[in-house]
This record gives sequence, structure tokens and C-alpha cells, in this order.
Amino acid sequence: MKTYKKQVIVALDVSNKNKAALLFDELGPDAAALKIGLEMFIRFGPEIVKEAVARGAKIMLDLKLHDIPNTVQRAAANVSLLGAELLTIHTTGGLEMMKAARRGVEEAEKNAGVKGPKLLGVTVLTSISEEAMKNELGVTKSVEEQVVALALLAKEAGLDGVVASPKEIKSIRKACGDDFLIVTPGIRPVGSSADDQKRICTPEQAIADGADYLVIGRPILQADNPKEKLIEIAENLNK
Ligand code: C5P
Repeated sequence: MKTYKKQVIVALDVSNKNKAALLFDELGPDAAALKIGLEMFIRFGPEIVKEAVARGAKIMLDLKLHDIPNTVQRAAANVSLLGAELLTIHTTGGLEMMKAARRGVEEAEKNAGVKGPKLLGVTVLTSISEEAMKNELGVTKSVEEQVVALALLAKEAGLDGVVASPKEIKSIRKACGDDFLIVTPGIRPVGSSADDQKRICTPEQAIADGADYLVIGRPILQADNPKEKLIEIAENLNK
């Protein structure tokens, strides 16, 4: 295992349990975390998180919780029992819902003696255009203004940070300060295919702009040797 600062979160978008288990062992030690999203969580259930944690991997559980405060509080408390490092929730659930998530984590930490996840807010999904935000959701701010407003709300609620596209890193960092985590997907090392990502950024640029962690999936998972690719990206970031 190398001793560089770990800043890459690998998106484990796989739907094969054996493949996932191999990746926990292969990539876990060199990644800041492995991201398990709804697809895997719904297919394999909470046990997949426990298995990854038991194998020593750190997990970002990308469930994007969004419900009434009491439900999110209970869900966050239950996630805390699984041992994930990071949990995502929607900031558009509002201040009270985000505060309730924090209470849920603290409750589990107190009652079950576990270490709960850090909480990351999801602001405006990158799949939503400014036009859709205005015409379908009735939001008249620009995407950037709305993202910053929701990031500030997440900070006020006591969340640890947000997930943000490369385009928004600088304005969130400026508005929310240095001790607020920014986790950024849409990352492509030079020479990698953009796949279906529209606005991409290199790992080096995203970190220079102020991101703390990068979420990278296909450029690592589809490489001939995923572990080598992860280490190459991580080492370049540490130069
Ligand atoms: O394979 P790739 O590097 O594009 O994977 C990026 C991961 O980050 C995927 O799991 C994707 O769902 C997630 N993500 C994203 N863009 C966002 C939010 C999440 O690509 N705005």
C-alpha cells in the first residue's frame, strides 16, 4: 500500500457481486473510498456495504436521501450501523431534513457506539438544465446561484460538505470556506474517453480548483489494470 494522500473515490458501478468483492480488495487500499450507489444497494442490499467494510474498504454510500425529517433521521441512523464513511442526502429536502440526518448519525453514534458517516449534500443534479430548473421546478436562479445557495444551506445544517460538478468547485469553495468538503465527479485524466460526461475536468485541475475528493468510475474500472490506473492518478495528484 502506498502512503500518498488518498483523494480518489472509485465509483463501483458494477452489478456483479463477485466483481464488486474483487474490487473491494483490489482498489480499497489505494482509494479514499469506494462509491456504492442505488443500483448496487438495491440489488445486493445493506449487506454489500457491511461486506466491503469487513474487507477493509471505506465506503461512500450514495443513496441521495430525500424525505420528511423523521424518516431521513431514522435512515441516517440505520446507515451509521453499516459502517459507511460518507452518505449523500439531497439538500433540497431542506434545512430541517438535513439537521435531522445529522441527529440520526449522532444518535446512532451515542446509542450503538459506532462511528457514523460524514454527510454530503447533493445540490442540483447535473442532469437538470437551467431551463428545466426554471420551467419544471419553478427555480428562477441560475444553476450556479442555486448550487451555491444550497451548499450554504447544507453548511448551515451542519453537513460536512457537498457533491459538486467541476464547474462549481470554485464558487462553492469561495462561499463555504476551507473546512467544507467538496467531492467532484465528471473527472477524466488526459487521454481517457469522456464517455457520457458532458463537462469534464482533469483530476489535477479539479484539485487545483479546490476539490477535496474526486469520484472516478470508468477511467479506472475499464482500464486494463484498474489498480495500476488508480495508483497512477493518485501519484500524479501528489506530485
Ligand atoms: O464513470 P464515471 O467516472 O463517469 O462515474 C462517475 C460517477 O459519479 C457515477 O457513479 C455517476 O453516477 C456519478 N455522478 C456523476 N455526475 C454527477 C453526480 C454523480 O457522474 N453529477
